[in-house]
Amino acid sequence: MEFVWLLFVCLVLYQVDCTSILCEEGFCRNHRFKEGCSTPAHECRINNATHTGLWLPSPTICNCCEYCLPFYGKESHCSAGGPGTGVTVGRCGHGLTCDPQQLTCVRMSSKCHTAQDEYDARHLRGETGALEQRPLCDGKGNYAAFHCVPAHTCFCQSEDGERIFGERLNLGATTMQNMHCGCSRFNYKIRKSISPGVRFPVIGPRCTADGNFHPVQCIGRTCYCVNRITGKIRDEKSINLNQDPISKLPCYNAELDLFPNQSEGKPPYNYTTPCYEHMQAKIDIIKQAEENGFITDFFTTVSECMPDGTYGRVLKTTNGTKICVDDRGHKIEDYEAEPNTENYENMDCKCAKTSFLMAQSNERPICCKNGNFRKIQCRRGQCRCVDSDGRQIGRESADVTTLSCYNPDWKRC
Ligand SMILES: *[C@@H]1O[C@H](CO)[C@@H](O)[C@H](O)[C@H]1NC(C)=O
Ligand SMILES: *[C@@H]1O[C@H](CO)[C@@H](O)[C@H](O)[C@H]1NC(C)=O
Ligand SMILES: *[C@@H]1O[C@H](CO)[C@@H](O)[C@H](O)[C@H]1NC(C)=O
Ligand SMILES: *[C@@H]1O[C@H](CO)[C@@H](O)[C@H](O)[C@H]1NC(C)=O
Repeated sequence: MEFVWLLFVCLVLYQVDCTSILCEEGFCRNHRFKEGCSTPAHECRINNATHTGLWLPSPTICNCCEYCLPFYGKESHCSAGGPGTGVTVGRCGHGLTCDPQQLTCVRMSSKCHTAQDEYDARHLRGETGALEQRPLCDGKGNYAAFHCVPAHTCFCQSEDGERIFGERLNLGATTMQNMHCGCSRFNYKIRKSISPGVRFPVIGPRCTADGNFHPVQCIGRTCYCVNRITGKIRDEKSINLNQDPISKLPCYNAELDLFPNQSEGKPPYNYTTPCYEHMQAKIDIIKQAEENGFITDFFTTVSECMPDGTYGRVLKTTNGTKICVDDRGHKIEDYEAEPNTENYENMDCKCAKTSFLMAQSNERPICCKNGNFRKIQCRRGQCRCVDSDGRQIGRESADVTTLSCYNPDWKRC
């Protein structure tokens, strides 16, 4: 755990400002006057659908000149580099790669591009639904950081398109601008790359419910304010929990503090959550048992907490049933499942949570008793099949019996 944090600190915190060493003001004016600059590629000044480029620091001393890296369009000539292939001045644009045989820019082959192609083919055949979204890919051909279900919510996804922690109400463009999922993706990567090799869950940076970085991050007992998109420490001011509560930090936001009672009363203060405490207690028991010579494989299933430090949407109650809960652990309506039932085993509360976020809407989804999405959802006289995340699959229809997921018992689940 410490190791990961150190890594995070090194990556994020100590970025030395190297530019101020030699390149003081006036140097470039002088340099440009004496040495001159070559004219940058014109693409960056145009930036239309066919001519685009990226302004970059120029590979000249102190980056004095302007430098434009042009992006080649689909089917344009490109060079893969190597002897005799000429000098590469630009590169293939977003989502494109240089085909080494043809030496032209072609679409990268990736899971996300394949999904887009499949969508496009179905769209041409008129088989896509009104609330179905074409998959969004990034410039590297990976899935974009989030997926939005029209009229519902947007949720974070991994580069492979797997849904991950982080969801917020879909309010169109503003939501998309504020949803970056950097914290959620960071935690996902830690879990994928580090956690398999360690015995106990690794705790990454704390996220907020939408998958952004929580403005307050603590390393040991010292807490800082960070940028919510990048996770980088914003300023020098820090507090020590042995004297001050996190509410003393300038970036403290009571709305984002799920457990404000930790800032009340007398020091020492804490910045933890019931799930983390529970996890720590369990780890302590295991370690204690080991010291006493017990074989502990039996216990070693320490369940992980969500990146916001909570237990997640599904909570096991003391009497053995499962319920759906919100960020603060409060029960959402009366979603519930009894042990040893199918409803219990596959309970995910995704619909309950989406519906909870849509509390103000009059077009909330219909959820099963266990909080999962009902497979058929209807809206404005049209019904559609949805997956476990509420995403439409295929065309909608006014007649439910024609839907591929239809089952005579469709209303009960
Ligand atoms: C982009 O700008 C270039 C140069 O001005 C022009 O030749 C080209 O037709 C423009 N493309 C589009 C799609 O407007
Ligand atoms: C704060 O509240 C949580 C849940 O509401 C509770 O579990 C915890 O014990 C409380 N902590 C303190 C210090 O009162
Ligand atoms: C912080 O945690 C410590 C140890 O669990 C506890 O003694 C202390 O009361 C907590 N402080 C607050 C303000 O809840
Ligand atoms: C279990 O507890 C929940 C609330 O915590 C309650 O709604 C439910 O009725 C209880 N179930 C049984 C079988 O006692």
